[in-house]
Amino acid sequence: MILTERATEILVDNDMGGYTVPTKGMYPFQWNWDSAFVALGFATFDMNRAWQEIETLFDGQWSDGFLPHIVFRKDEPSYFPGPTVWQCPHDIPTSGITQPPVAATIVRSLYKSQPTPEQLERLKAIFPKLLAWHRWFYTCRDPLDKGLVLCVHPWETGRDNSPEWDAPASAVDTSNVGEYQRKDLGHADSSMRPLKIDYDRFVALVQYGRSTGWDHKRIGQESPFRVYDVGMSLIFLRANRDLKRLARIIGDQEAASEISAWIEKSETGINYLWDNNVGAFCSRDIITGEFSGAITSTSFLSFYAHVGSDKQSKILLDHLARIDGRAKFLLPSLDPEHAEFNDLRYWRGPVWAVVNFMVAAGLREAGLDEWSEKIRTDTQRLIAETGFFEAFSPMTGEGTGGDDFSWTAAMWLDWAGNETNQGTLL
Ligand code: DGY
Repeated sequence: MILTERATEILVDNDMGGYTVPTKGMYPFQWNWDSAFVALGFATFDMNRAWQEIETLFDGQWSDGFLPHIVFRKDEPSYFPGPTVWQCPHDIPTSGITQPPVAATIVRSLYKSQPTPEQLERLKAIFPKLLAWHRWFYTCRDPLDKGLVLCVHPWETGRDNSPEWDAPASAVDTSNVGEYQRKDLGHADSSMRPLKIDYDRFVALVQYGRSTGWDHKRIGQESPFRVYDVGMSLIFLRANRDLKRLARIIGDQEAASEISAWIEKSETGINYLWDNNVGAFCSRDIITGEFSGAITSTSFLSFYAHVGSDKQSKILLDHLARIDGRAKFLLPSLDPEHAEFNDLRYWRGPVWAVVNFMVAAGLREAGLDEWSEKIRTDTQRLIAETGFFEAFSPMTGEGTGGDDFSWTAAMWLDWAGNETNQGTLL
C-alpha cells in the first residue's frame, strides 16, 4: 500500500466521530495541538472534516477562554490520569492545563487553501474563540508582561520530559503524591517513556492545580513550577501573526490592533529567552531566573516566529550545521552533545515530525530553502523507512513511542510525503 493511502487510513481509523485520537490505547482522547496538526492532514482529502477537528476541540473551551490540553468526553481505563483525577469544573470533562497554541496558524492555513464563503462563515465562528484563548494567555500566563508563555506543567509544553524541565521540576514536592498506576508503560517500551521521577512530578502538579480548584490566575502566580517555555512562546508569537491576518480577513480591525500590540511586546520580550552562554533561545525558570541551557529543536522555531537578529540567526544556523553533523536524521529534540541526550527517550532526543514541520516552514520563510528541504526529506525518509511512529531516533531512524500516530500521518499528507506541496503554512 502506498504511504499516502496508509496515512489516510490512519486518520480515518483514529477518527472517533468528529474528533481524532493521537493513537489508539495510549492516547484515547482529543489532544489540543495533536488535533490542530491532524486538521492539516484531513484538509488534504476532506476539508469539512478538517474544520470539524478544530471545532470539536473548542467544545472543550472554558468560559474564561482557556483551552485544555485534553478533551476527554468520557473516561477510558487505558489512560492515566483520566477525568476523575483532574476534576475540572467544565461541563465536558477536560484537563486543567493547556498546550502549544498552534490552532490559529492551522486555521489560517485551512482558510487560505480554500477561501470560500462557506469557510469564511466557519472562520468567523471560530475566530472569537481563538482570540479568547490568546487573551487568556496574557491574563493568566505572562506574569512578567513580556509577551511570552509561562507554563505551569511540563505536559503543557508538549515536550513532557525535556531536560529543560529537570531543574525547575526538581523543586516540586512529590512527598505526598501517593500511589498511582501508570498506564503509558502498557502501551510503549519504558526505555522510550519518561522516568518515574518525572511522573511523580507530573502527578504532583496535577494534584496542586486541582487543590486550587483550577484557579488559573493563582496557578500562574504561585505554582511550584513556573517556566517561560521557548517552544510555546515562539509558537504563540507565530500564532498571533496568523491570528492578526485572520482578524483582517473577517474585518475585525479592533482585534487586529489588539493583536499588533501583543506581537510588538513579544518581539522585544523574546530576548529574555536568549541564553548567551549556549547561544540559543532556551526556556527559563522564572522562580530562579535560570536558563535551561539546553538547545532543543524548539530553539530553532525563532525562524517560524520571525524573530532573532541576524547575529542570533547565524549562531543558530551554526548549531544546526553542527547538529546535522552528529545526527543521521534532523531534527533531534535535544542537542546530541547535551549530557542528557538519549536518542530513544521521548523528548530527550527523538525527532518529532510536527516540530520538524514548523522549523522547516520557518527556515523556508527565511529563505533558507536547503535547510528546510533537508528537514523535510529527513522526515520523509524516517516515515518511509520506519512507519508512522510517534517519534524517531535521530541516530538510527528506529520508531519510538506509539505507532499509527495521527499527527505523523497528517504531516506525511500535508508536507513530508508531498514533493510538490511544500507544506501549507506560507
Ligand atoms: C501523556 O500522558 O503522556 C501526555 O503527554 C500528557 O499530555
